[in-house]
Amino acid sequence: MNNFEHNRESWNELTALHTESSFYNVEAFKAGETSLNHIELEELGDVKGKRMLHLQCHFGMDTLSWAREGAEVVGLDISDASIQKATELSEELNIPATFVRSNVYDIEKVLDETFDIVYTSYGAINWLNDLDKWAKIINRYLKPGGVFYIVEFHPFIYTLNDDSEITDSYFKSAPMETIVEKSYTDKSEISNKNLKHIEWHHSLSEVLNSLISNGMRIEFMNEFPYQVYNCFPNLTELSEGRWVSEKHGTKIPHMYSIKAKKLSGSK
Ligand SMILES: C[S@@+](CC[C@H](N)C(=O)[O-])C[C@H]1O[C@@H](n2cnc3c(N)ncnc32)[C@H](O)[C@@H]1O
Repeated sequence: MNNFEHNRESWNELTALHTESSFYNVEAFKAGETSLNHIELEELGDVKGKRMLHLQCHFGMDTLSWAREGAEVVGLDISDASIQKATELSEELNIPATFVRSNVYDIEKVLDETFDIVYTSYGAINWLNDLDKWAKIINRYLKPGGVFYIVEFHPFIYTLNDDSEITDSYFKSAPMETIVEKSYTDKSEISNKNLKHIEWHHSLSEVLNSLISNGMRIEFMNEFPYQVYNCFPNLTELSEGRWVSEKHGTKIPHMYSIKAKKLSGSK
């Protein structure tokens, strides 16, 4: 089984746990609450009438939340279970959206159109090995002048061990393999003990340069001294929805966002 197939299998299993978790709180979403955070809502702005491609959409709550904001959305994810649940939610809640199961890197086999916005968020690019290829895909799926937006966990966070000490290099290239024992959501135990995650860490310069060298102009990049999710070890809640490292507080970066525009004439 290749790395992506391992990840597909483990995300299939995690999806079942996540849809039942208080972390994702599907009931609140069904009752009308957005699953989006203030950062992406404010930074991406008005999406009414815009065609949006959401890469790595998991089981679709954020995708459908953008649809509630007025965007016409296509969500893509490698996990069969995620795409099935996303489609069910779309039908049950009567929120129009299209969901496609595919590896990001195989997108051209399943999608042939262009969008005003390509969007991806929180815990996405660590599943991708080749950011140059990723940025080429982003450019290919944007209309001229279209916008790419990402909000992600800061790569610095991945240098910290469970005691919040810097033990890992900020610069990594080799794939990192872990046995999946628990989900980050409710720390639920995984029953299948043979699941593996294969991840890649990407420094900020790698992310930015992949976009710059593939026809994208950076409009802004922001770094945040807090997390919006309690999904890393040893976080403490500073104020509602703002989680920080117990040991380092707001002295270290926790998340970043980038907005970039497709340069006309680039492909
Ligand atoms: C942490 S979740 C992202 C959650 C996201 N913030 C959201 O919209 O809910 C990561 C997602 O990436 C998907 N994924 C992992 N590797 C992928 C790949 N190569 N191509 C497409 N999706 C992938 C997983 O199936 C999972 O749903």
